[in-house]
Amino acid sequence: MIRVAILGYGNVGRHLASAIHKANDVALVQIYNRSEVTLSEQVNTVPFTYNLSTLLPADVYIIALHDDAISEFSKAVIVENALVVHTSGGVPISKLSTRNKRGVFYPLQTFTKGRMVDFSVIPICIEAESKDDLKLLQKLGRSISEKVVQIDSNERAKLHVAAVFVNNFVNHLYHNAEVILSESKLDFDLLKPLILETAHKIENLSTSEAQTGPAKRNDRKTIEKHLNLLKDNKNKAIYKLLTKSIQDTYGKEL
Ligand SMILES: NC(=O)c1ccc[n+]([C@@H]2O[C@H](COP(=O)([O-])OP(=O)(O)OC[C@H]3O[C@@H](n4cnc5c(N)ncnc54)[C@H](OP(=O)(O)O)[C@@H]3O)[C@@H](O)[C@H]2O)c1
Repeated sequence: MIRVAILGYGNVGRHLASAIHKANDVALVQIYNRSEVTLSEQVNTVPFTYNLSTLLPADVYIIALHDDAISEFSKAVIVENALVVHTSGGVPISKLSTRNKRGVFYPLQTFTKGRMVDFSVIPICIEAESKDDLKLLQKLGRSISEKVVQIDSNERAKLHVAAVFVNNFVNHLYHNAEVILSESKLDFDLLKPLILETAHKIENLSTSEAQTGPAKRNDRKTIEKHLNLLKDNKNKAIYKLLTKSIQDTYGKEL
């Protein structure tokens, strides 16, 4: 039985706590948060503390805090012979205090309070400094997910940049599209089937095969028309940059 404590009950802490609590061969022994929080129904029997000096014994302490807080916070986690890991894509393992055994347990998914996720399909990217610790993280990862991969801090940094492109940037483009539509009182819902099909088709097609649109076809008149329609200069700049990137990729000039 692996004993786990979760330190930080934000988006990731919440989701991990629920997944770990219901997993086999793993016991969620404690949840810490610096401020008082309401534990979800699934974990409301798990001991809670906001005092770091009252941490219970565990095999793995998972720090699920803001990236910038991880390093300092890890110095204050004083535990006996346990592995202390963080959940960040962008923070190297070396940022954790050397006071404890160190590791990373990065779930590659977007987590938002109130949205359920299926942990079994989420890749868990692990890193540790010894074979035994890697084995432990592998076992913990496999208790909640079918995909556990060993990835070092440099690789994880690249994965994180790539994740920002496909998740955060794409979502921001949705937002910009919503604003463009709202200027003409058009409903964003009209775009949802297109958004979903765009995501679904890369399950079977390569990104090159899936690419369509005026930039790839080099439809110059349409591109000019779009640029004239865009009122916001930032959107014009984004449109030009992405059009150029697509054309450079597929070998045509803007
Ligand atoms: N959200 C995602 O989609 C996602 C996905 C994968 C990995 N991650 C990584 O997971 C980690 C947590 O992200 P999140 O989205 O769960 O963040 P979050 O929802 O904003 O929660 C942050 C947590 O950090 C605590 N905190 C912040 N500064 C602190 C400090 N100085 N001392 C003690 N506690 C502090 C907050 O406590 P209070 O409640 O008291 O403010 C809160 O519990 C980050 O490293 C992030 O990169 C996030």
